[in-house]
Amino acid sequence: MEKLTGNKKIKTAVFISGTGSNLKNLIRFSKKNNSPVSIDLIISSSHLAKGLNYANQFNIKKKVFNFKNRKNAEKKIFLYLKKNRISFICLAGFMKILSSSFIKKFNYKIINIHPSLLPKYKGLNTHERAIKNKDKFTGCTVHYVTARLDSGKVILQKKIKIGAKDNANSLAKKVLKLEHKLYPAAIMKIFY
Ligand code: GAR
Repeated sequence: MEKLTGNKKIKTAVFISGTGSNLKNLIRFSKKNNSPVSIDLIISSSHLAKGLNYANQFNIKKKVFNFKNRKNAEKKIFLYLKKNRISFICLAGFMKILSSSFIKKFNYKIINIHPSLLPKYKGLNTHERAIKNKDKFTGCTVHYVTARLDSGKVILQKKIKIGAKDNANSLAKKVLKLEHKLYPAAIMKIFY
């Protein structure tokens, strides 16, 4: 990724499917003077995503796209991103897989946050799997997005201990807190 030149922030879209706590955290981060990005668009794969409320709260444009036909959805999203001059995408709890042609067309300027220490536990139910395997540590990863699920180059990872009393729920909460530190740090690392 190219480094920042001048003091213009990079127009960024955040893709969500659910709660949007990472979205909220990224919006807060983007408002800091030294943030390299501004969040200009929220894209959701579901009308029901709670995170869509942050669009109104923070006065950010939002749009929902139906992924029943992915090719169609991606075509529309691409045009919408171009129209809004978006040049960077952060996936934040976005539960759809983007096609290689979309990723390529967007020049690989797409990153994702995942609740495990990749390459461990790609896909869903990461915390359940970490508990079941009696892992001593877990964490989260920010990585570039490629067409292969949760497999792109790692940008940053953060690790925490799994306590004897932890279950999937308690772990999800702890890791989410960690994610809120990791995502902005990864963005800083990319652009500075
Ligand atoms: C986060 O834990 C994120 O890492 C995970 O979904 C949660 C979304 O929370 N993403 C994935 O599992 C993607 N494979 P949020 O909506 O509160 O940001």
